[in-house]
Amino acid sequence: MRIIEAKDYADMSRKAANVISAQVILEPRSVLGLATGSTPIGAYSQLIDWYKKGDIDFSLTKSVNLDEYIGLDGSDDQSYRYFMNRNFFDSINIKKENTFVPNGKAADMEAECKRYDELIDSLGGIDLQLLGIGHDGHIGFNEPGAAFEKTTHIVELEEATIKANARFFGSEDKVPKKAITMGIKSIMQARKLLLIANGPDKRDIVEKALHGPVTPMVPASILQFHPNLTVVYCFN
Ligand code: F6R
Repeated sequence: MRIIEAKDYADMSRKAANVISAQVILEPRSVLGLATGSTPIGAYSQLIDWYKKGDIDFSLTKSVNLDEYIGLDGSDDQSYRYFMNRNFFDSINIKKENTFVPNGKAADMEAECKRYDELIDSLGGIDLQLLGIGHDGHIGFNEPGAAFEKTTHIVELEEATIKANARFFGSEDKVPKKAITMGIKSIMQARKLLLIANGPDKRDIVEKALHGPVTPMVPASILQFHPNLTVVYCFN
């Protein structure tokens, strides 16, 4: 495990963007695993900046996102597809057809889980997976108690996650109650992992995840077993 302490959010974002850009420069055909949430926005905007300066080319790169709310269409401004387009894909030269987010509106969600796993396999797996971490230690939407051996599956969101995400929806009752997420097993199969965390409120959970016992009650604690994990955090 490599742990990098950043000075502030901007520094964390630049360092994370550096790791992602190195991946794409060294292997232009990389499959990037991407995350939503507030933490990665700065890294995405740094990558956009470097793309505009001509330093990175995403034309051969593919991406798979961790998760999506069930019931939201990609055109819904709260969907994770919309988030990715607006915060990243629309401003770089990745081909939209090479960007994948689970379909939260699929008629058969079980079939969608299977399709998504097969899709990741057909791309040759994930080269570098970017991860944020929830206050309860969730990664993707794998909440405390989630079995480590799961691939893509459907989850009921925890009360704490609904509360944390209400800020994006305006009120708690508007937050979808279910999501589709890559499982811990899918995440652990990525060849490299990059975990980013920002803010004083993330200090305790990051400590527990990286240095505490490995337990499904802290889903991110399993990352300690990954052979190629980089963590960039800033608790200011
Ligand atoms: C989103 C995701 C979530 C977030 C986590 C932290 O795709 O996978 O696990 O990474 O909820 O969210 P922020 O960054 O908003 O604190």
